[in-house]
Amino acid sequence: MKIIQITDTHLIPRGKVLHGLNPCELLEACIASIKEFHADAEMCIITGDLTDQGHPKAYHDFRKILQQLPMPYHPLIGNHDHREIFAEIFPEVPLDEHGFVQQMLTTEQGLFLLLDTVKHKNDEGTYCEKRGAWLRTQLEESGSANVYLFMHHPPFKIGIPALDRIKLQDGAERIQQIVSDFSNIKHLFFGHVHRPISGSWYGIPFTALWGTNHQILLDLATEDYLTYSHEPPAYSVIQLEPQQTTVHYQHYLDNSPGIKSPLIT
Ligand SMILES: [Fe+2]
Repeated sequence: MKIIQITDTHLIPRGKVLHGLNPCELLEACIASIKEFHADAEMCIITGDLTDQGHPKAYHDFRKILQQLPMPYHPLIGNHDHREIFAEIFPEVPLDEHGFVQQMLTTEQGLFLLLDTVKHKNDEGTYCEKRGAWLRTQLEESGSANVYLFMHHPPFKIGIPALDRIKLQDGAERIQQIVSDFSNIKHLFFGHVHRPISGSWYGIPFTALWGTNHQILLDLATEDYLTYSHEPPAYSVIQLEPQQTTVHYQHYLDNSPGIKSPLIT
């Protein structure tokens, strides 16, 4: 089963520039590449920071651009989003019983849990008791199915001090305690960090990737500010099988010609 992850699209009303780049045009280039090379993917998941400032017009642009995909798409929200405005403009996206943007998707490879880690008007993430109860219930009902988690903030430090200050803070231990009670969680996919990262956390493999607009510099020393960069954007092509998860990164602006090399057999 092939799926696509896009993250941190940071749309602002069309025509405006954000950190020296045009978010709408870059997202359109991303969608064009997915259509050309990965139209057979089953779905696309967008892991938050859909807009830069929660502007309604930016959400409408987001919808218009994503609608060009040939497969279904499922957005979740990040710290730059506005939960209420998002929910108004995307009434088809399910909310949990408390109004958080959390949902479970049933697929042929198992269950996808899309979490809401947003702390209103704050860059750091949170995961409260109510959201945790929803997560526990989904996991208790998952039986032996493979489960894949999707969220915006990582619930752990990644070693970039300025990003670690705005990771999921309150509730990180709550998530860790919940997931440690289940052995069927196969992977955690997140956004927020605008960088490619992979590793494992309490035995759960994880990956993150570049955003579609600006990136964040690999700076393992500075604590009090982030530095944005223009490293090339990418999306992930994820192959899920019962016993294996493989994540590829596609730099969709790269038009350099391929050089064919015969295989030595
Ligand atoms: Fe972001």
